[in-house]
Order: sequence, then structure tokens, then C-alpha cells
Amino acid sequence: MRRLPNIAVVGCGYWGPNLVRNYRSNPDCRLKVICDRDESRLEKMHELYPDVALETNVDRVLEDPNIDAVVIAVPVCHHYELAKKSLLVGKHVFLEKPMASSSAQCEELVELSNQQGLILMVGHTFLYSPAVRMIKELIDSGAIGRIRYISARRLNLGLYQKDINVVWDLSPHDLSIIIYVMDQSPVELNCRGKASLSPSIHDVSNMSLLFKDGGFATIHNSWLDPKKVRDMAIVGDNKMIVYDDLEPIQKIKIYDTRVEQHLSSPEQNTDLQVSYHHGGMHAPYISQEEPLKLETRHFIDCVVNHAKPLTCGSQGLELVRILEAATKSMQEFGSRVKIDDHYPICCEECWKGGEACVHT
Ligand SMILES: NC(=O)c1ccc[n+]([C@@H]2O[C@H](COP(=O)([O-])OP(=O)(O)OC[C@H]3O[C@@H](n4cnc5c(N)ncnc54)[C@H](O)[C@@H]3O)[C@@H](O)[C@H]2O)c1
Repeated sequence: MRRLPNIAVVGCGYWGPNLVRNYRSNPDCRLKVICDRDESRLEKMHELYPDVALETNVDRVLEDPNIDAVVIAVPVCHHYELAKKSLLVGKHVFLEKPMASSSAQCEELVELSNQQGLILMVGHTFLYSPAVRMIKELIDSGAIGRIRYISARRLNLGLYQKDINVVWDLSPHDLSIIIYVMDQSPVELNCRGKASLSPSIHDVSNMSLLFKDGGFATIHNSWLDPKKVRDMAIVGDNKMIVYDDLEPIQKIKIYDTRVEQHLSSPEQNTDLQVSYHHGGMHAPYISQEEPLKLETRHFIDCVVNHAKPLTCGSQGLELVRILEAATKSMQEFGSRVKIDDHYPICCEECWKGGEACVHT
């Protein structure tokens, strides 16, 4: 493709305007049209970008042969339908997280994009964060040692979603980071949650993940917490990292801290004694580049060079399989669920994560 790719952004509610801003400022593509079925959202966009075309009907966007790629930022329940339509008419697709409402839908989209020879990228934004990239480099370099466990918290007051629970809304961020830095997917999980306001939509959850090599991680997500928290502790047997995404500059702190164990009788594993190593703290320089800017640039690079995205459709599918397993575990009051098995969501109520499915 010689000319710059023409982009359409579909959905400009809460998140879409961030994508619009980044595609608009990317010199390697042209933001041709902004689409939202809500005219009041388009009026807001028109005030900011008066020269960009507006459209309320997505079908008209897809009929336009000049549009090369469609960026989809609508509620999750519409992801599959819009992505499928776009791929069928030959458009490359960027799809927000989580990729779709079920792994079956994700599988279909991955297959369709392969058949059509089109790019399908998923918005696992944090994998484009310089801080997350640095954590991965630190782990891969061996500086942190063997990872004993990771604990992640993503809490705040709202934004309540109507179509998905807090696990499907917030944990894709933590899951994608954990899978990326650990370089492996969890093999089983337990997840408990509570639906405090709406009977079927959980607004607080606790997930425990187990990895094949014995690795362990926990994720606490909430829409019902007085304090906004976005942090992660990565505990190695040599050093420990605290990643606080709300810190403007020192997002990563590396602690030269560890606990060493001494067994007076190692054969019998008795009389465990521990000693504590309290060293210094180092906060490395981290590039201030906006993850979303790097993510949107990567999508355009993939479209232009026909390259496989870092966060491709298969990764979106892998993550949705974990969300399905978490939903099953929540329905079974925190049961242990293996992730390599397949847990299709049987109906819309189940998908929202209501406990104990009564629909099949
Ligand atoms: N990557 C991130 O960090 C991040 C952050 C927040 C949200 N998201 C994702 O972005 C997506 C959108 O979330 P949101 O919070 O902006 O939702 P939202 O409800 O605030 O906005 C969605 C917009 O899509 C429009 N819309 C819905 N169906 C449409 C259709 N068929 N055609 C045209 N317009 C349509 C709605 O009118 C609305 O303005 C979700 O998938 C969400 O998970 C990602």
C-alpha cells in the first residue's frame, strides 16, 4: 500500500476519543471518519476535529472503499458483530479489549482475518506501556530472580458497565501484563466476586492464577472502592518490583529486598528460619511516551507492512478463554477451573457473571 491508510474510528463514548486523538495526530495515516450512533457524541468530536467526516451508520462507513482499517471502541457486546462485518468487506480491524463476548466469537474472528489476509489487532494497551516493557526486560535479564508471585490491584469508584462485569472490564489489563511479563499463560484459576448493586453484574472480584511452573498471581478488581489504585507487586527471590501506574514519573521502583530461608536440618525440612535483606530502592528512567500512541502507531505499522501485531487476535482469544474460566469459577463460588478446557458462555446472563447459572 503506497498511500497512507485511511482510518475510521467507530465508537466515541468514554474511550474512543483517546483513539481518535492518537490516529488524528499520527502522520502515517489519515483519520477519515468518526462514527457513533449517538449524534451528541459526534457533535463533541466535531468541535475538536471540524474537518473529519462524521457518520451515525456504521454500514455506510464499511461501504466506503477508501477506508482501509476500522478501529472499534464500542461496548463489548457489539465487538464481534462489527469486527466480523468489517473483515468480511476487506477492512483491517483494531478491536478494543476484551476482544469479544466469547471464545467462540474470537476463534471465528481470528479464522476470518486469516482467510481474508487482514490484520486483526486487540487493544491490550498496557503491553505498549514503557513501564511494562521495562518490567519485562528486568525479569528477562534475571535481575529479579525467580518470580515467587505477582499481585495486581485495579480499583476505583465506577465506571459501572451495563453489559459486562468487573472481571471482563478490568482484569484484561492485569491478565495481559502478567502473561506478557511471565511469558506464559496460567493453567488454572479460582475467582470469587460479589454483585453489590445489580444482581447479575459483579462489581468486585478476586482471582488467583496458577502457572505450569508453579508461578502464582492474584488480581483484585473493583468498581466499588474509595481509592483509585493501579498497582502491581512483582516479587522475585532476588529483588522486588512495585509498579504504580498512577505515579507520574517513578512508575517502577526496584527494591533490593528479599527473604532468605535457612533450614537447620534441610533433609527434614524442619526449623525454618528466615533472614531479611533490606537493600536500597532504585527508580529507573522510564520514557514518558503515551502507551496508546505507541499502540496506535503499531497498528498502522502492521497495516502498512502487513506484519503480525504484538497483541494479535490469538492473544485476544487466549485472554477471553481465561475470562470464561473466571466466569465459570465465579458461578461455582470460587471453584478451581482449568484453563485449557473450554467453557463456552451459555447465555447472556451467564456472561455477565451471575453466580450459579440456571439457564442450561
Ligand atoms: N484499552 C483501554 O484501556 C480501554 C479503556 C476503556 C475502555 N476500553 C474499551 O473500549 C470499548 C468502549 O468502551 P467505552 O467505555 O468507551 O464505552 P461507551 O459506552 O462509553 O462508548 C461506546 C460508544 O459506542 C457507540 N456505539 C455503540 N454501538 C455502536 C454502533 N453499532 N455503531 C456506532 N456507534 C456505536 C455508543 O453510542 C457510545 O458512544 C470497550 O470495549 C471497552 O472495554 C478500553
